[in-house]
Amino acid sequence: MLEKINQTVKNFESDISNGVNKDKLEEIRVKYLGRKGLFTRLFEEFKVLPKDEKPKVGKHLNEQRTKCQNKFDELISEYDQVSDSDDFIDLTLPGRKKELGTKHILTQTLEEIKNVFKGLGFSVYEGPELESDYNNFEMLNFPADHPARDMQDTFFINNEFVLRTHTSPVQVRLMQNKKPPLRAIMPGKVYRNEAISAKSYCLFHQVEGLFVDTDVTFAELKGTLVYFAKQFYGNDVKYRFRPSFFPFTEPSAEVDIWWQPKGKEGKWLEILGCGMVDPNVLENVGIDSEKYTGYAFGMGVERIAMLKYGINDIRLFFDNDKRFLEQF
Ligand code: DAH
Repeated sequence: MLEKINQTVKNFESDISNGVNKDKLEEIRVKYLGRKGLFTRLFEEFKVLPKDEKPKVGKHLNEQRTKCQNKFDELISEYDQVSDSDDFIDLTLPGRKKELGTKHILTQTLEEIKNVFKGLGFSVYEGPELESDYNNFEMLNFPADHPARDMQDTFFINNEFVLRTHTSPVQVRLMQNKKPPLRAIMPGKVYRNEAISAKSYCLFHQVEGLFVDTDVTFAELKGTLVYFAKQFYGNDVKYRFRPSFFPFTEPSAEVDIWWQPKGKEGKWLEILGCGMVDPNVLENVGIDSEKYTGYAFGMGVERIAMLKYGINDIRLFFDNDKRFLEQF
């Protein structure tokens, strides 16, 4: 009988060491430890043994059954851990790709604009978006109640402050804080209380430019802006200077670029305003207009990017739609 018990244990051990899966384990359990399994049969044989053999065989049979049960439990719990655990890493799965962001197309355009002017010796100067009505209009030669103020629909904060409608007040701040010669560009956000459409948005970006020194001429202004247009849009860009009016420049002009989308009719699109700084503005900030002259310009960054990349709706810049952003 002892021999038979030992043989059963040996068979059990060889069965569980032979590459098992969950189904196979269950089969082994039923075969050895189940209600009608081999150990149950051994216990039945044990019952009919002569009395004097019983204690020894009974002890051995109990020990061996417990040993097998324990081994089985150990194996099945290892198996469950591997298959159910959250930490289980399947090294054969393909990796997950990390998506990298890119700079927003407006940031890229702004950087390109800055680089062209930095190459010409312009520094970068910035001013606040919440601006006094005084700097935004008065100092730039827009008298109170003058119709020229209607050129720009304004978000008023109170009687004294506005959301700046253009970056031109930064010129005022620069001229008040530094002595000529001055040569700087002034990028930033501006706000207009306009109906939102494909062409206009309540917020956009401008880059202001200012050069003040003795003997600055309109020819230099033209040379600088033509250089910019060629750097930005390529040497064969078609442009024109068109006479215009701004209260803070005299004479004033606007620059248009010829826009010719494939298969469509071409047209002139305005990208910037410019002119010679009005002597009144120089006097307002305490610069002697007999000694110094200057030129200024202000360009719309969205407009410039729309032209370069063929974007036909200004709202796309602010929607944060990945399908748009990913194209640049
Ligand atoms: N501030 C003007 C605007 O927002 C643009 C502009 C025109 C700026 C002429 C200038 C300039 O500096 O000289 O419409």
